[in-house]
Amino acid sequence: MRGTVRLIFVGFGNLGRGLGRILLQDDNPLKRRGMEVKVVAVVDEKGGVVDEKGLDLGRVLETAEKEGSVASLGKPGLSAVEVIRETDADVVFELTPTNIKTGEPGLTHIKEAMKSGKHVVTSNKGPLVVAYRELTELAQNKGVQFKYSATVGGAIPVLSLAKRLSSGDRIVAIRGVLNGTTNYILTRMEREGLPQDIVLREAQELGIAEKDPTLDLEGIDTACKIVILANSTLGLSATLSDVKCTVISRITPEALRLAKEAGYTIRLIGSADSRGLSVQPSLVPLDHPLAVSGTLNAICFELEYAREITITGFGAGPRETSSALLSDLIEVAQNL
Ligand SMILES: NC(=O)c1ccc[n+]([C@@H]2O[C@H](COP(=O)([O-])OP(=O)(O)OC[C@H]3O[C@@H](n4cnc5c(N)ncnc54)[C@H](OP(=O)(O)O)[C@@H]3O)[C@@H](O)[C@H]2O)c1
Repeated sequence: MRGTVRLIFVGFGNLGRGLGRILLQDDNPLKRRGMEVKVVAVVDEKGGVVDEKGLDLGRVLETAEKEGSVASLGKPGLSAVEVIRETDADVVFELTPTNIKTGEPGLTHIKEAMKSGKHVVTSNKGPLVVAYRELTELAQNKGVQFKYSATVGGAIPVLSLAKRLSSGDRIVAIRGVLNGTTNYILTRMEREGLPQDIVLREAQELGIAEKDPTLDLEGIDTACKIVILANSTLGLSATLSDVKCTVISRITPEALRLAKEAGYTIRLIGSADSRGLSVQPSLVPLDHPLAVSGTLNAICFELEYAREITITGFGAGPRETSSALLSDLIEVAQNL
């Protein structure tokens, strides 16, 4: 492993800043491995700051937090593409907002990074949903590493577990509770007998649900994650249009009560198997490991030999997702 890893941050919002704060800690997972990290550029939508000798990350964070952007420290209007093309660096962290229709701006950022020989670590589902095969092939052709553990399951090491399971066994199906917001809503409806709109309003007040919760409630966020999982572990080339989606809006407290009396709960399950890809509210036995509560996620792999393996944990949140981004960065650095 080389001594110092040079990083570019593209997008410096919740996740970027959270990671920045971890990099400043004396006892972070990278320093514990004797790994030196130098942040050479940070760019957001309003501009960017570059110093190939290494930025003063504390100052960059302070400015981003005070002004909502790093632009005033460097060049307002500087674009991410310019920064990626022209800055000498090893790894690009692509952390811009998800666009599931075009994949942009992340798709262009990732392609530019790969074309200029930089490894990419991302939490952005958009580019993977739109162009999974193109990106994995480009990474291969350019000889760069492409890591996206943070796009599925937050802190849960779903993709690395799948890789490990595939080496000595065969994954025949994947089923998962992949969206914490809908799971929180269903859990509270079940426990308190409350209607969906009231629980949703409270979840929005608590910051658990977005102001516009459409992507979560219509199952689209779950569909994105099942597409990424299916493509990377079952070798498919699926896109969102391949997923059959059913929304949770028809689920009532009464339906949850009746299910419970029969020994089941209702969970929004994303699944991928030989019949195809789907997202739908499904009955799950109360004693099955997929019957998780609150904002927890759970992913169950059905295997030819091992039968079932289920993994559970927190699927979102800046701190939890940082854990996945840091693991990816460490893996990239170890292979440099
Ligand atoms: N937060 C989580 O818990 C979590 C978990 C898993 C995955 N993710 C995914 O990770 C990504 C980042 O999440 P986040 O919570 O950090 O989002 P965020 O707080 O909205 O931050 C996004 C950042 O990207 C910047 N940006 C937007 N357009 C840009 C462009 N064209 N060029 C350069 N920078 C641009 C924004 O700059 P401005 O502020 O100047 O607009 C902002 O700094 C998203 O795709 C999200 O879906 C998030």
